[in-house]
Amino acid sequence: MPNLRHNETIDTLLNRRSIRAFCNEAIDENTVATLETVAQRAACSQFLNDWSAIKITDSSIKQKLSEIGNQMYIATAPLLYVFIIDQHRNAAIARKNGVDADTDEFMLKTRYRFTQAQNDVILALHAMETAAESLGLGCVILGSILNSRTQLIDILNLPEYTYPVLGLAIGKPAQNPELKPRMSTKMQIFENRYPADDAELLENIADFDARVHQYYDLRNASRPVDALSAQIVALATDNSAKKHEAEDVEQVARQGFNVA
Ligand SMILES: Cc1cc2nc3c(=O)[nH]c(=O)nc-3n(C[C@H](O)[C@H](O)[C@H](O)COP(=O)(O)O)c2cc1C
Repeated sequence: MPNLRHNETIDTLLNRRSIRAFCNEAIDENTVATLETVAQRAACSQFLNDWSAIKITDSSIKQKLSEIGNQMYIATAPLLYVFIIDQHRNAAIARKNGVDADTDEFMLKTRYRFTQAQNDVILALHAMETAAESLGLGCVILGSILNSRTQLIDILNLPEYTYPVLGLAIGKPAQNPELKPRMSTKMQIFENRYPADDAELLENIADFDARVHQYYDLRNASRPVDALSAQIVALATDNSAKKHEAEDVEQVARQGFNVA
């Protein structure tokens, strides 16, 4: 086994885990400004700056998002952001410069730009998450707020050419969960090409399932799905994905993107 190298940055990343209980303590404005500036420093495709984030300070909106996500810790997060794909600002810039953003010539609403902007969102969000953790704060990324994209878009008043991607809840941790296990590096990081033989991919799955099982046992023995294999089977056959997909297609089109 190689010895991992350590420094503050690496240790912050190696010790990251989702935090789902927060102390009721506001985050000071210098910290907030630092996190926002770090997020803006992330790389972005073709320097299009095609993401934005909405800081949710209104407790009634936090409450609504928490109901959509069916996760009560969303309502109690001292700092909460929703990160969005944003070609609306770029459309305004294009219009100002004589490009008609409502025609098919406006290429920033294509599937390609949608996907690239989504990548940019994630990089910015992850930079903010890492910075927050390096300052002793805890975070959880929130896909659950997309349970109703329609409601989320309406609540946040998202205009044409924007689309919500993820939330990020940040606060002083009120819990200290164990690190969740990860599969062996060999199962996830390959050399030069994808392994030809699936047996190689699955070689260590039993060991990993056992470690995940033990992790959930320690956390919550009553959890019904308690290993990666079981979780994958459950999600592979979960029909609610279809509902999400249908709503996604509908709402992406409603927001003006040409991704069909
Ligand atoms: C895209 C994405 C969406 C997620 N959505 C949620 C969420 O809605 N609620 C939640 O509690 N955790 C959410 N998580 C956290 C994952 O459940 C968590 O990262 C994963 O189980 C691994 O655990 P760890 O972060 O503690 O290592 C999300 C993570 C990602 C990357």
